Order: sequence, then structure tokens, then C-alpha cells
Amino acid sequence: MHIAVIGAGYVGLTTAACFAHLGHDVVCADIDEERVARLNKGEVPILEKGLPELVGEGLASRRLRFVTGAARAAREAEIVYLCVQTPQSETGAADLSFIEAVAREIAPAVRPGTVVVNKSTVPVGTTRFVQRVLSESGAAHDDISVASNPEFLREGQAVQDFLHPDRIVIGCEQPGAAVRVSELYSSVQAPVLVTDPASAEMIKYASNAFLASKISFINAIANVCEAVDADIREVAIGMGYDARIGFQFLHPGPGYGGSCFPKDVAALLHTARSAGYDFGLLSGVEEVNREQHERITEKITRAAGGALSDVVIGVWGLTFKAETDDLRDSPALAISRRLIEAGATVRAYDPAAGDAAQRLAPQLEICADAYEAATGADVVALLTEWDLFRWLDFPRVRDSMRRPAMVDARNLLDPAAMRRLGFAYEGVGRR
Ligand code: NAD
Ligand code: UGA
Repeated sequence: MHIAVIGAGYVGLTTAACFAHLGHDVVCADIDEERVARLNKGEVPILEKGLPELVGEGLASRRLRFVTGAARAAREAEIVYLCVQTPQSETGAADLSFIEAVAREIAPAVRPGTVVVNKSTVPVGTTRFVQRVLSESGAAHDDISVASNPEFLREGQAVQDFLHPDRIVIGCEQPGAAVRVSELYSSVQAPVLVTDPASAEMIKYASNAFLASKISFINAIANVCEAVDADIREVAIGMGYDARIGFQFLHPGPGYGGSCFPKDVAALLHTARSAGYDFGLLSGVEEVNREQHERITEKITRAAGGALSDVVIGVWGLTFKAETDDLRDSPALAISRRLIEAGATVRAYDPAAGDAAQRLAPQLEICADAYEAATGADVVALLTEWDLFRWLDFPRVRDSMRRPAMVDARNLLDPAAMRRLGFAYEGVGRR
């Protein structure tokens, strides 16, 4: 099928490259001309396992092209995917201005029979909203359908998640359009749930809010473990064996971050509030998350002796999680900023996002590796769980520090081994 994908970000680029890999003819559009030019040369601007290979494959087979401007891409398409950003607005609600702008732009260009599909995360009612904007803006054809097909991929494993999803959700009032969207995935092995648009849109928010709740729950349990001298790792394993609970998303840390959980939790709270429902449980999830950033900052302060002026903190990891270069809403970056505001010098190393972090937080001293970040530090704070931090020469780290104190906000290291080496070690919820 001929597909247009609007937006060449984490979701759009993955969607475009994977659909081309599945045999479709894909034109992917962005408004960022430089991004488009780089992509046409096969240069992938984000860190995402397997994506450069798929983009290269698509360009070589000519099944994948990149253009500037949504209308150009939409003109030839049978199916148009909207993959633009839906950031948090001041009220907490999702900002739909990017979606609206694209709908207005493509309206005069789309052909009769086109299906416009929302893959961006959008609140209940957006399928109808897009349909209305399209007809107001000149999409005169009665037979243009709009569907919701939310995306569940994780950054860092986007290609794997797209090609091997747990499920495919399609929300559409027109059965014919739903079938056409489902046919795009005919070579993907996954259950397909066809439902109404409102339910599809809610499935996406409910899924992200549930996962965020799991994280806040385990963070809260970790905090209780600290108070009663239990070990969260043992507790999480013991819980995870129950198949109804499972092992995933039970890792305590500095709180969830990234471009989605914080904004999607806020948007669902806004939806609930607007509908007259007080979603106290989810407000609690948000609150625990906010406090968790604070608790880690306090742990680091205590490890530094109680105050941060004239203190050097070595920070390991700045992205919101490992295996991505994404710094959006990163707890590690937020905590680093708080440390700087409180008077500390922060020397940080991240394997993927040092330069980008420097632009966002110019007071950070970006280091070439983990050893350099630790040199002369009063405390090393391990804030993002990059695997390479497990395999360092820890005696060398210890000997280079002013005082060997380690706050491991991801529970990546073995407390007993670290203490044997002479570190004052503190994890999260661990003895
Ligand atoms: P992103 O910011 O990485 O990408 C959005 C892209 O859209 C940008 O490159 C931007 O230049 C482009 N764009 C904006 N307006 C445009 C226009 N008028 N025409 C053409 N291009 C335009 O965002 P993302 O992380 O890919 O997220 C996109 C949506 O998908 C969001 O709603 C997000 O919540 C959702 N989502 C994201 C993830 C994820 O892991 N990042 C996973 C699932 C769902
Ligand atoms: C998340 C969801 O997992 C995807 O299914 C969803 O499609 C996506 O949001 C989205 O809608 O954008 P992502 O943001 O890439 O994906 O990252 P996750 O792996 O879910 O991690 C989110 C945050 O939670 C990170 O800060 C991570 O460090 C934290 N986390 C995760 C924990 O603190 N503990 C855990 O056990 C798991």
C-alpha cells in the first residue's frame, strides 16, 4: 500500500522504516528540512537499535522516501499516518496544535478514499476532531475515514516493538477502513483489536498510566523497605513470580521520565477532571514520582555530608533511561540541575547525550568517560542504567575520588561488593 507518514521523530521514523520493511511504499514527511535532507542520505538523527539499517534498506529499495511538508507526502497516499508530537500544555491536557496543523495542511491534498490514522498519543475525541478539521479545511470527499492506531513502542527497542508488538489496536467507526489499516500489518504476528475510536484512544492512556503506576508503586515500596530494613530486590522478585503481577516495571529508581509517561499521566488526569471524575489514585502516582526525584537528590546531599556548596558530584548517565539519546523529561537531568542550583559542581558523563545535555544545561561539566566524571568527586551518582557502568574498574574509580561515596539510583551495582571495595554505597530500597 502507499502510505504517508507525517512526522519523522521517534515514532514517525520507526513507523515509516518498518512499514517499508514490511513491503509498503512509504513517503515520510517532516517540517524540519535539515532532518529530511539527512534522512535522504541515510543519516538517522536518533539513537535507535536497528533503525539505521532499516532506513538504509528502505532508501536502497526505493520503498522509503523523505520529503519536506505533509501535503506533499499525503497527495499520493492511500493511508496517511499522523505521528507528530502532542506535548503537555499548561493545563496538563495534550496540546493538539501539531495534529490540527497537519490535518489542515493535508486536507486539500488527500485523495478520495484515503484513511487518515492517528498514531500520536491523543485524547479521547481526537479521531472525531481530525475528521472535523479535515472537512472544514477542504477535504470535500465524504469517503475520507479517520482511525486511531495508537503506538506502544519503547524508545531504544522501537523497531523490535513495532515489528513484534504485543497487540495492534485499531479504533474506527468505518469497518472497511479498519480492515485496510489492519491489512498494513498482515505480516506482523500479533492480536488485532478493532474497536471504537474512543476506546482505542483510552487504551493508550490507560496502558501508559498503568505502567507509570507500577513504577510509582514499586518506588513507594522501596521507600518503605528502606525504613524497615527490607530489600526491594528480594521483594520485587517475590512479587514478580506471581504471574498476575509479573517481573516487568518493578525496578525502583529516580522516578519515571521521558517524553511520554509524565505528559500522558497529566493528560489522563486532565481528561478525568474534565469529565468530573477525581482520579486520586493517578494523582498519587504523579506525586510519588515527583517526590522520588527529591528523595534521590536528598540521598546525594546526605552522601556528600549534608550540604552541596563546594561539593563535586560525578553523575553517570543523563538520558531518561539507557539505550536512548532522549533527554526529554529526564530524571537524571532534572536531578543534576537541582544539584547545581544547590551549589554543587556536577561533572557528568553519558554515552549518548553529553553534547545535547550540555546545550540544555550549560553549567554541567561534560566528561569524556565515567572515570573522568568520578575524578575528584565527593559522590558519584549513577542516575541512568547504562550497562557499561557495571563493568568499570571500580578500584580505579575509588582511588580517583575525593571521598568514595556512591549513590546508585538504579540499583545497578552489587551493594556488598561495592562496600567491600571501600565505597560508602547507597542504592534505592536496599540494605
Ligand atoms: P518527536 O518530537 O520525536 O517527533 C515529531 C516529529 O513531527 C518532529 O520531527 C517534528 O518536526 C514533526 N512535525 C511536527 N509538525 C509537523 C508538520 N506539520 N509536518 C511534518 N512534520 C511535523 O515525537 P515522538 O516522540 O515521535 O512522538 C510522537 C507522538 O507519538 C506523540 O504523541 C507521542 O506521545 C507518541 N508516542 C511516542 C512514543 C515514544 O517512545 N517516543 C511511543 C509511543 C507513542
Ligand atoms: C513508554 C512505554 O513503555 C511504551 O509502551 C509507550 O509506547 C511509550 O512510553 C510512549 O507512549 O511513549 P518509553 O518512554 O520509551 O516507553 O520508556 P520505558 O521503558 O517505558 O520507561 C519509561 C520511564 O520509566 C523511564 O524513565 C524508565 O527509567 C522508568 N522505569 C521503567 C522505571 O523507573 N522502572 C521500571 O521498572 C521501568
